[in-house]
Amino acid sequence: MNHTVYYDPPFTDDERRAQLYAGQLFVYSPRPSSLAFCEFARGLIREAFAPLDPLTAQHELDVARYAEILGKLKPAFIHHPDAKRHLRAVLGDLGCDPEKTYFDVPRMRSSTSNGYLTTGIAYAWHPHRDTWYSAPGCQLNWWIPIYPITSDNAMAFHPRYFTQGVKNDSAGYNYYEWNNTHRGGHVAGYTKEDPRPLPRPTEPMELDPQIRLVPPPGAIIVFSGAQMHSSVPNTSGVTRYSIDFRTINLDDARDRRGAANVDWHCTGTTMRDYLRMTDLAPVPEEVVGLYDDGTAQRGKAVYQPG
Ligand SMILES: [Fe+2]
Repeated sequence: MNHTVYYDPPFTDDERRAQLYAGQLFVYSPRPSSLAFCEFARGLIREAFAPLDPLTAQHELDVARYAEILGKLKPAFIHHPDAKRHLRAVLGDLGCDPEKTYFDVPRMRSSTSNGYLTTGIAYAWHPHRDTWYSAPGCQLNWWIPIYPITSDNAMAFHPRYFTQGVKNDSAGYNYYEWNNTHRGGHVAGYTKEDPRPLPRPTEPMELDPQIRLVPPPGAIIVFSGAQMHSSVPNTSGVTRYSIDFRTINLDDARDRRGAANVDWHCTGTTMRDYLRMTDLAPVPEEVVGLYDDGTAQRGKAVYQPG
């Protein structure tokens, strides 16, 4: 297959989703709605690290203290009512149908430089698909850099694996058990090692050639949740901060459209986490039921951010 990166294409949301489900990538230029979202995020970040510069604070702070700050900052971002308002404005701006589009809560991510903190609250991601973590094949991921990024602190895509399965241990992952056991404030305490059994490849992969998109702050990268992606080992000298969130389209979920399953074997579904753009209503139960596999009693069916 070819690997196409669409830049500000004149597509409808329907056309865009079809391309994303086929493994293509999208980049949109910064626009007022996404820049406002970044400015909001920068305000919270500045406040959290004051008087230090958030990009270099890692060089001044003890790692436990740094993780503690992130452990407060990230939930504050998730729970802030303005975060959802900005997210909805960005999706509306990019042509998503507010009646049909459901999103999960926006997250703030950070990638520290020089291996300072790569576990727990600032996990450096090994190559993975979100669909190894119980996301449906119709899930789309949206990613926005908050400050300027460079090739050495960006995110990497490994698109050849979109159609090529990789041996992995996702079969051991159940979404509801995960919500019970591996989520919450204790994750910020993992500053040296990370005991969470995160699904990962169990065979060698060819990670090069890889695609690193380096757009300006406020630009929006969109990709399928089945796309293989990883954190670039950050050697830039500064911490990278980004926003991401995920969406599904109700018609696609109902008709089981989305990326093809080449290798995911996890159980449970994230379907109960998405909220309708118009009124924050959950996905109708009959649609959740299409993705559920009877394991919901194993833990918490819905993710409740800590
Ligand atoms: Fe991911």
